[in-house]
Amino acid sequence: MRPPLVDSFDRRIESVRVSVTDRCNFRCKYCMPAEGLQWLQRTEVLTFEEIERLATILAAMGVFHVRLTGGEPLVRRDVPDLVERLVKVPGLTDLALTTNGIALRTLAGPLVDAGLRRINVSLDSLDHSRFAEITRRDMLDRVLEGLEEAERYPELRPIKVNAVAMRGFTEQEVIAFAELARRKPYVVRFIEFMPLDADRTWKKADVLTGAEIRAMIETVYPLVRLDAPASSTAERWGFADGTGEMGFINPVSEPFCSSCDRIRITAEGALRTCLFANEETDLRTPLRSGASDLELEQIIRAAVLNKRMKHEIGEPGFVHSTKSMSQIGG
Ligand code: 5AD
Ligand code: SF4
Repeated sequence: MRPPLVDSFDRRIESVRVSVTDRCNFRCKYCMPAEGLQWLQRTEVLTFEEIERLATILAAMGVFHVRLTGGEPLVRRDVPDLVERLVKVPGLTDLALTTNGIALRTLAGPLVDAGLRRINVSLDSLDHSRFAEITRRDMLDRVLEGLEEAERYPELRPIKVNAVAMRGFTEQEVIAFAELARRKPYVVRFIEFMPLDADRTWKKADVLTGAEIRAMIETVYPLVRLDAPASSTAERWGFADGTGEMGFINPVSEPFCSSCDRIRITAEGALRTCLFANEETDLRTPLRSGASDLELEQIIRAAVLNKRMKHEIGEPGFVHSTKSMSQIGG
C-alpha cells in the first residue's frame, strides 16, 4: 500500500470515475448538442490496459471505488472485458457502471458474469414522447427492457435509476417516479440539473431542487430519512411504509464539495479533479512515454493537491464548463 491520496483541504480521494468513451447514442439536451460534437480518434482514447494500470496505481493509494462512465460506456466494444480486469485489481473493492441502459438488454448478463455488481441507469422520463424530447432518441422501451434484464440478476444490486431534475419538465413525473421506486427494486434518484450542457443554456432557475421534489412526493407518500455515508453525494429517503427508496443529489442547492472524495479520468486520459474545473492533467502522455508507476503517482498527487475547494455554480464569477458531461465523463 502507498500513502493515501489527499488534497490540500484534507479531503481523502477514494473514488474515481473513468470515462471509457466520449461517444454516445443519445443526445440528451442537458448534455450534448443536437449534432456536431467532434469525437476523439480511437488512438486518443485510453486502452483497457492503460485504464487498468491507472486503476492499479490509484487503488494502491486507497482509491477503492471505480465507476465506469462515458459518453455511453456500453457503446465501446468489450466493456465486460474491462470489468473482468478491474475486479481483479488489488484494493479495488467497489466497481460500478453508469449507463443510459439501451445496451443492457444484451449486456447485463455478460457484465454480471465479468463481475459487475452495481449499476446506475439514467432515465429522465417514463413517457415516450417526453423521453424522446429529452434524449432526442425514441428509445424508452429499449431502456425499460434493459432495466428488466438487469433485474433478472440478483447479484446486480442496487439498481439505481437517475433522473436529471429540470424545472418545467420533471414536476409532472415526480409521482410516477416515486411509484416506480415502490413497484420495482430500483432506487430512484433525482439529480439537480448542472451547468454542463453543451448548448450552455443552463440557468439557476432551471434547477428543480431536491427539497422541492421531496415535498411533492411527501404530499402523497410520506418519506423517512435513511443513513448515508458522509462522503455520499445522495440523500437517501425511504417510504414510511418500508416499500422502496428514493435519493436526492443536490449539487446546486446543497453543494457537497466539502466531503467530495472523487476525481475523474476522461476518455483521452486526462485527470480532472472537479467537474467544474476546466484544468486537466494529461496522464496519457506519461503513460505512453514510459513513465514508471511512481512517476504517475507523483503526477496524480500533484494534480490532486490543486483540487479546488468547491464549485461556484450560481456565484458571480462562475464560468460555464468548456466541456459537456459526455466529454468529461458523468
Ligand atoms: N446536469 C445533471 N446531470 C447530468 N447528467 C448529464 N448531464 C447533466 C447535467 N447537465 C447526468 C446523466 C447521467 C449522469 C452520467 O450524468 O443524466 O445520469
Ligand atoms: Fe449520452 Fe448520458 Fe449525455 Fe445523455 S447524458 S447524451 S445518455 S452521455
